[in-house]
Amino acid sequence: MSRPSILSTHSLFDAPRKRLAERFDAEYWMEPERPPRAEVLRRVAGKVGLICLLTEKIDDELLDAAPGLRIVANVAVGYDNVNLAACTRRKIAVSNTPGVLDETTADFAWTLLMAVARRLLEGDALARSGQWRGWNLDQLCGADIWGKTLGILGFGRIGRAVARRARGFNMRVIYNDAAPAPAEVERELVAEFLEREQVLAQADFLSLHVPLTPETRGLIGARELARMKPTAFLVNTSRGPVVQEAALVEALASGKIAGAALDVYEREPQISDGLRRPNVVLAPHLASASLETRTKMAMMAVENVIAMFDGRRPPNILNPEVLEAGARS
Ligand code: DGY
Repeated sequence: MSRPSILSTHSLFDAPRKRLAERFDAEYWMEPERPPRAEVLRRVAGKVGLICLLTEKIDDELLDAAPGLRIVANVAVGYDNVNLAACTRRKIAVSNTPGVLDETTADFAWTLLMAVARRLLEGDALARSGQWRGWNLDQLCGADIWGKTLGILGFGRIGRAVARRARGFNMRVIYNDAAPAPAEVERELVAEFLEREQVLAQADFLSLHVPLTPETRGLIGARELARMKPTAFLVNTSRGPVVQEAALVEALASGKIAGAALDVYEREPQISDGLRRPNVVLAPHLASASLETRTKMAMMAVENVIAMFDGRRPPNILNPEVLEAGARS
């Protein structure tokens, strides 16, 4: 009996690949670089399942190329690369990877925050350069973290995991989201809901954890950056287009904020030249990149595909209505 044919636009890791091999004929993109669009369009034809990364745009053009597709399993929690409405219209299930990357991403937001506040990269460059002349009182003085105010925009799982870590630094945590978190969460995290404007104005460190949606695109622009303290740092591990990069470049150049630590960019993999400054820490979209977490994410995508073809509800389905409305069998 022929087995369902799946395209994975990444080689994944051993364990998820083995799991997929139990049930499917899987074709993998094995090259280290991301596949060209034309290659994805060519390979997805005739497939019933697609495992993809956030670098693939899942739009009408791609869906037209794969009329038999039943599930798109995105190996990421964010799914702004997927036209969910187009998939739903075609009764194609879409899944993501929530939960497994929260703590790892929060760790990395803190990695960035600490690196920029304590000028770690400048220190590393000096230590490696052979030019270090020894201890000096005013050498590479950064900003304290402990006891400061951490502002969080987007208080979902990742925002809360970031807040939890702030307790060890004896920080005040303020946040904004569409609605306040339940009282027990606020109590546990000692976090205070404030209007966005107040979070902007009071935070010493502003960390972004909103998904990219039409509402959050460009959320942080010139006006918002101007509201921040000149001593404040911006940390972004959410999605690049949440921040207007040109406005951020201007704010950094004119000293409206003290620095930034970024994992994501408006036009990845391009990074504005104006961000290449000593008071900016730049990472190439690494926040969830621990081997354990990335393996879990890939496995989660595989499990969603398996569930779909087992006739079960994919555990992380984003558009369950496709199952209810007499999905294709
Ligand atoms: C996601 O999952 O959305 C991240 O950006 C990659 O881990």
